[in-house]
Amino acid sequence: MKAAVIRGPRLISYDTVPDPVIKDDRDVILKVTATAICGSDLHIYTGGILQPRPIVLGHEFMGIVEEVGAGVSNLQVGDRVVVPFPVACGQCFFCSQELPGHCENSNPEKYGPEGGLLTQKGGGMFGYTDLYGGYDGGQAEYVRVPYADHGPRKVPDNLTDDQVLFLTDIFPTGYTGVDWGEVSGGEVVAIFGAGPVGLMAAKSAFLRDAGQVILVDTVQYRLDKAAAVTGCETLLWEGDGENVVELIRDLTRGRGADVCIDAVGFEPDRNLLDRTKAIVHLERGSIKVLEACLSAVRRGGIVPILGVYPTTYDNFPLGQIFDKGVIVKAGQAPVHKHIDTLLGYVEEGRVVLDDIISHRLPLSQVAHAYDIFKKKEDNCVKVVMDPRLE
Ligand SMILES: NC(=O)c1ccc[n+]([C@@H]2O[C@H](COP(=O)([O-])OP(=O)(O)OC[C@H]3O[C@@H](n4cnc5c(N)ncnc54)[C@H](O)[C@@H]3O)[C@@H](O)[C@H]2O)c1
Ligand SMILES: [Zn+2]
Ligand SMILES: [Zn+2]
Repeated sequence: MKAAVIRGPRLISYDTVPDPVIKDDRDVILKVTATAICGSDLHIYTGGILQPRPIVLGHEFMGIVEEVGAGVSNLQVGDRVVVPFPVACGQCFFCSQELPGHCENSNPEKYGPEGGLLTQKGGGMFGYTDLYGGYDGGQAEYVRVPYADHGPRKVPDNLTDDQVLFLTDIFPTGYTGVDWGEVSGGEVVAIFGAGPVGLMAAKSAFLRDAGQVILVDTVQYRLDKAAAVTGCETLLWEGDGENVVELIRDLTRGRGADVCIDAVGFEPDRNLLDRTKAIVHLERGSIKVLEACLSAVRRGGIVPILGVYPTTYDNFPLGQIFDKGVIVKAGQAPVHKHIDTLLGYVEEGRVVLDDIISHRLPLSQVAHAYDIFKKKEDNCVKVVMDPRLE
């Protein structure tokens, strides 16, 4: 089959690889009909998150069941499904608490309680490096889906792929931000990062009746898109982002926002000083966006961290967190926990997801797709690829 294979930083190609096969009774093989590129894929693409051997990328995918393992009774050949990005068994201690990202069975080689830099990681994820199970991903013609009696959700025929694809990751992820932020009505929610995750967080904040939703980004076209598809307010980050912190305080009687969501992570736009600091401290990337969130949140407020941070950082502002009494929550989104509720919202027409798509391409153009998404060229916001197109 054909698939998007990463072989090193910025080396992604459309290659021929072996077809996936059923390895366990609980597997299905899916024929992929739509797959998207996530900001998380960009961390592997840049080399910010390392992958030592070639692997098929992709954890946002859906398709049609092609082959069913003997132990899967809820799915049949021909069913059309979306698949949550965490690979989760559905039976362990963490799965039974709706924490699929911490599944004790899906990452047997590298799993552990510590959460170290290169050891003792969380549960498996599709197409997300050997540290997270080494599973081949769904930017491919076909993909093996383990624990298929637990993860995949059938989707109604009257909804298109574009309408439901983002239930695999970014919609539940954005929703997790406002859920962790305990948004229940009237709050001021500031979201840092107007990429796909930030946009979905904004849509989710409105679903949960936030009083005011503010999106922050360094790139104007992303803010324009955010305003167009969510109706939020926007702020352009300048310099070190002090302007944004001041503006958010100005909007909130000097207090700061109730909730500040970090939807950027460790690879924000960086200047020479940021890059030098990272080298001196032996760090990767920067925590400048998290620092801005901690400054812009009000005392006693909540900072949900959706953006990925894969390493340790010196000068972490623990004193500020303590003084302000800030609640910080972080991690991979528990997609399985929210996906059914959120599919319901899509079916009811309470939320529209496909208006963030800027590019629809054949999978054969995957190298170009990663390039424009990373460089933010051609007003790229979200790329959806179809492996069936030439
Ligand atoms: N926790 C999870 O389960 C989960 C799921 C999906 C994605 N993610 C992570 O969420 C983050 C965002 O993903 P995405 O798909 O939206 O990707 P993205 O890279 O398109 O979005 C990041 C956005 O941040 C903006 N940005 C850069 N520097 C900034 C700054 N200083 N201030 C404000 N904005 C800035 C960029 O212009 C871009 O629009 C990534 O780190 C990704 O890995 C986490
Ligand atoms: Zn993702
Ligand atoms: Zn489990």
